[in-house]
Amino acid sequence: MSPLCRIEGVLHYEGVSLERIAATWGTPCYVYSRAALTEAYQAYERALAGHPHLICYAVKANSNLAVLNLLVRLGAGFDIVSGGELARVLAAGGNPDKVVFSGVGKTEVEMRAALEAGILCFNVESESELVHLNRVAGGAGRSARISLRINPDVDARTHPYIATGLKESKFGIPYDQAYALYQEAAGMAHLRVTGIDCHIGSQLLDTGPFAQALERILTLADRLADAGIRLQHIDMGGGLGVRYGEETPPALSDYTQVLLRQLAGRAEHLIIEPGRSLVANAGVLLTRVLYLKHGQSRDFAVVDAAMNDLMRPSLYDAWHDVQPVRARSGAARRYQIVGPVCESGDFLARDRDLALAEGDLLVIGSAGAYGMSMSSNYNTRPRAAEIMVDGADAHLVRDRENIAQLLAGEHLLP
Ligand code: LLP
Repeated sequence: MSPLCRIEGVLHYEGVSLERIAATWGTPCYVYSRAALTEAYQAYERALAGHPHLICYAVKANSNLAVLNLLVRLGAGFDIVSGGELARVLAAGGNPDKVVFSGVGKTEVEMRAALEAGILCFNVESESELVHLNRVAGGAGRSARISLRINPDVDARTHPYIATGLKESKFGIPYDQAYALYQEAAGMAHLRVTGIDCHIGSQLLDTGPFAQALERILTLADRLADAGIRLQHIDMGGGLGVRYGEETPPALSDYTQVLLRQLAGRAEHLIIEPGRSLVANAGVLLTRVLYLKHGQSRDFAVVDAAMNDLMRPSLYDAWHDVQPVRARSGAARRYQIVGPVCESGDFLARDRDLALAEGDLLVIGSAGAYGMSMSSNYNTRPRAAEIMVDGADAHLVRDRENIAQLLAGEHLLP
């Protein structure tokens, strides 16, 4: 259920008026719902209850410490892709024994930090990385638990920038090379083969590609078992799509049934790495209309949030819902919702029929995933504040950045 509701004409997030949030902390700001996050996580737990599993939330989707800490309290593990994300998980109280480390470019420093923390598994993406990790683990006097991330060559039928399971992509180990590489890994002194991994893409709107990928992974796991390499877990990555507007993503239970059906009777634990489907619809971006420009051919609403705050529309032509916090009467116009950044690609939404006045507050929907985490300081714009609502309460979970913080760390020539 969406945490957005209209009470006496004013949009609220859970029990908190978005007008009150804007008055207290200013705009632009991200607003998250504790109840929506909790419900999304618990729905996954319920749907997977029939098989031993670990839900490793993909930190990149939203890495705010309060979000991570809430997931820690709910029992989640984490999928990280950098030393920075590891530090966040640890700072949020996460258990390293529930952390998997993905990514094609892990550095030696990052490997050492993860070994020292004692993470559950490295998802290794190339032969070179395997050799490197074995050496780093040996040097640190440790043993690294590993999975190979397999590229199953499956078409995820999603935006090309976020499809990762085709053989043309930079991700994973080609399916045909995986068996030999597993044998090589099994012989390495400082590695312990514990699993197999894949992640075929993001915002998938169909369960077919997941089923195909898992089938290929299980065929490989069986061949490995015949060769004496027994895996403890199968990691199917993330990727379940969400509804931004007209999309019809699979129901969570349909997705999990596709996985659980094929895993029935098997000993391997299931790991999944959902990001978007846990947080996208547990967050919104709140922004204020600065100026209205009624041009000859187009009407613009210039708002105080921009592509640096929410990059998805500019980068993927992504569609996000836009609603006024307080609906006003009067004739609607067809607006381009744009930010102050100096690029024509700086838009948050296009062709929206709205009745607006300067100073109005707008809510950009489904912004909990890949919103704040992809934001930047382009145009020397301080990043937005983040707020989490919890019933009738609202808590600031990240201060708005200030200009002094942006300038700190830069140096003039002597
Ligand atoms: N595991 C791995 C290894 C990943 O690379 C990703 C996402 C996930 C899990 C989580 O996938 P999810 O459940 O969120 O679909 N910035 C893009 C999405 C990029 C996804 C990158 N990898 C967007 O805003 O649509």
